[in-house]
Amino acid sequence: MKIAVIGTGYVGLVQGAAFADVNHNVICVDKVEAKIRHLLDFCEGKRNDLPILEPDLPRLVKENYDKKRLRFTTDINEAVKEAKIIFIAVGTPSNEDGSANLTHVRNVAAEIGEAMNYESDAPIYKIIVNKSTVPPMTYKIVHDIISEKTKNEFDVASNPEFLAEGRAVKDCLRPSRIVVGTANAKAASIMEELYAPFKDREVSILFMSNIEAEMVKYSANTYLAAQVSLTNVLANLCREVGADWRNVLEGVKKDVRVGRFVYSGLGFGGSCFPKDVRELIYSMGSHRPGTADLEYVKKIIEQNEAQKGLFLPVMEKYYSGLNGKRFAVWGTTFKPETNDVRESAGMHMIKELLLRGACVSAYDPSGSEQALFALSLDERVKPHLSRLTFVSDMYEALKEAEGVVIAVEWNDFRNPDFEQVKNLLKKPVIFDGKDIISTRQIKELGFDYFGVGRPDILGFSRK
Ligand SMILES: NC(=O)c1ccc[n+]([C@@H]2O[C@H](COP(=O)([O-])OP(=O)(O)OC[C@H]3O[C@@H](n4cnc5c(N)ncnc54)[C@H](O)[C@@H]3O)[C@@H](O)[C@H]2O)c1
Repeated sequence: MKIAVIGTGYVGLVQGAAFADVNHNVICVDKVEAKIRHLLDFCEGKRNDLPILEPDLPRLVKENYDKKRLRFTTDINEAVKEAKIIFIAVGTPSNEDGSANLTHVRNVAAEIGEAMNYESDAPIYKIIVNKSTVPPMTYKIVHDIISEKTKNEFDVASNPEFLAEGRAVKDCLRPSRIVVGTANAKAASIMEELYAPFKDREVSILFMSNIEAEMVKYSANTYLAAQVSLTNVLANLCREVGADWRNVLEGVKKDVRVGRFVYSGLGFGGSCFPKDVRELIYSMGSHRPGTADLEYVKKIIEQNEAQKGLFLPVMEKYYSGLNGKRFAVWGTTFKPETNDVRESAGMHMIKELLLRGACVSAYDPSGSEQALFALSLDERVKPHLSRLTFVSDMYEALKEAEGVVIAVEWNDFRNPDFEQVKNLLKKPVIFDGKDIISTRQIKELGFDYFGVGRPDILGFSRK
């Protein structure tokens, strides 16, 4: 089948390549010329990296490009003309008030509508599939915008994406489920044909209404975010009462009803959980004011914001102020195996340390470039950037630093050379934002240790 995917980011590129891999004919579109150039240069062997880091994606993209099943362009007209199914996979960041910003979705809908007005002998019919995460009723907005631009026939289907960064290729090739929202039998049957190669005994296609499909994504992410948030409430409590959450968890996890997001840390980040939970609260609250009490959901966000800053008061106290002091931050991505730094704990830490007058040496195996770019766009942080350095070696970051903050569980950070860490830091102090360090070892070496769900070492009281 001929498919166009508009938006070639974390979702569009991976899903586009996955469709090509099952022999669909895919054309990926992005309005950012540099991104398309980057992708073409990669496919033609002129560079080794893709714009995003995702295990197995380089192979998937290259193989399908070579087989001429996957192409890239900035020309939406060409893509819409060729394709029967057009995916919208553009970003939907949160507005200042937390609601979903649909500017990109609206723009793409208008561009698709206009692009559908080409000369054709046969009647024109397209399915526009919304893959972006959007509030309920957005399918109607997309429908209305396209109707204003064209008289040709089309349907709008809602098809949320559930991939997780770091395992996106696996998730797209073997999805946990395929959700399709449409009221139209013809569109449903074409979508079934499109996804048939992904279907097997364990993977089913769930058909429902557009609104229900839109709500599945928000509901799933709110559940998952709530698990992280509750885990951290309990982990914080364990630390306070002198218990280690890891040991407590062993006893809790045996109950099969308890979920997977049960590891203590500095809260959730990334491009989905924070945004989707906020959008559920603020887009839907304004959609039908007063119909649902979302205070409980608001707490998830509040708890998470507080969790990201967990170490800041303790650091202020421990160092008698942070102004002028240097700290190392290991990790800027929101989790390992991605270069996505959106809303990560490491980024939060760097910003807050800079705003408190500290100097920061930061290291990340893959997210330094993205982090520096994002920080340079932050008006609050911009004036302080001269106190930030990114280094290309994790130990280099420790030189002259008062202590190190571990903000994400990259494997390199789990078991560093502790002797080297001790020798490089001014004083051996670890703020372990992921509870990944072997405390026995560092206790022997005389580190001061602050964790999330574990009691501090050396009996320092945070109060
Ligand atoms: N990243 C994830 O893990 C993930 C998972 C599931 C769902 N989602 C949702 O999928 C959507 C896309 O997310 P993403 O992370 O891929 O975003 P992204 O920011 O990585 O990519 C979006 C791309 O769309 C392009 N774009 C914007 N306007 C365009 C236009 N008019 N024409 C052509 N291209 C345009 C941008 O240049 C960018 O490359 C969001 O709604 C997100 O919430 C994301």
